Amino acid sequence: MYDIGAGAGRLYEAAVRAGYAYSACDVSAALVARFRTMHPGADIHWTDGRSLPWRTGSGDVGLLTYHVLEAIIGRRNRLRTLLEVRRVLRQGAVLYVSHHVAMRYRPRQQLRSFFGGLGLEEYGDISITGSSGAGDHALSSYRTHIISALECGWLARVSGFAVQDRWPFDASSERSARCAIMERWSAV
Ligand SMILES: C[S@@+](CC[C@H](N)C(=O)[O-])C[C@H]1O[C@@H](n2cnc3c(N)ncnc32)[C@H](O)[C@@H]1O
Repeated sequence: MYDIGAGAGRLYEAAVRAGYAYSACDVSAALVARFRTMHPGADIHWTDGRSLPWRTGSGDVGLLTYHVLEAIIGRRNRLRTLLEVRRVLRQGAVLYVSHHVAMRYRPRQQLRSFFGGLGLEEYGDISITGSSGAGDHALSSYRTHIISALECGWLARVSGFAVQDRWPFDASSERSARCAIMERWSAV
């Protein structure tokens, strides 16, 4: 199981308990250090998702969970990451991808950012101040891109995945429930 953008290793223990051979990466040196402190012995790499350390076709399961795709700014970078994730997974492998629902997650802020000349690249980009949810790291102006269903479907198709399932889950920090969804993709 490959956990891309693993943060401080929120899913490490559950993955190991479930019997997976788990390997992870994250682009943040601070979070990788935190991961290593919390889980000595875990296989965690400090690297960008666009260049993964694993062999072609070697993985059965991929994780891009807790909205990792949203943390990658620029559609081209998201696509390059997904193509690289597809490279390291075998055909038929599953990939779990979570993301917010664009029309429900801070829609006013998304519109303000888009029309307000804030220098953000695409509709859906917003800046959040607070916790990344990835290991007690308080962040100021954490830039994130809220992916529309359209973009997500397109990214899956062109990177070699087929969307199998999607289901909503609650994001209690927001007023509107069910503004986040989990998708299960399969590598075709
Ligand atoms: C919201 S956090 C989720 C962390 C983790 N999956 C979890 O459940 O706690 C998003 C993570 O994506 C990582 N990230 C952002 N851009 C990345 C990239 N280009 N390559 C790898 N990781 C990246 C961030 O450093 C951060 O740890």
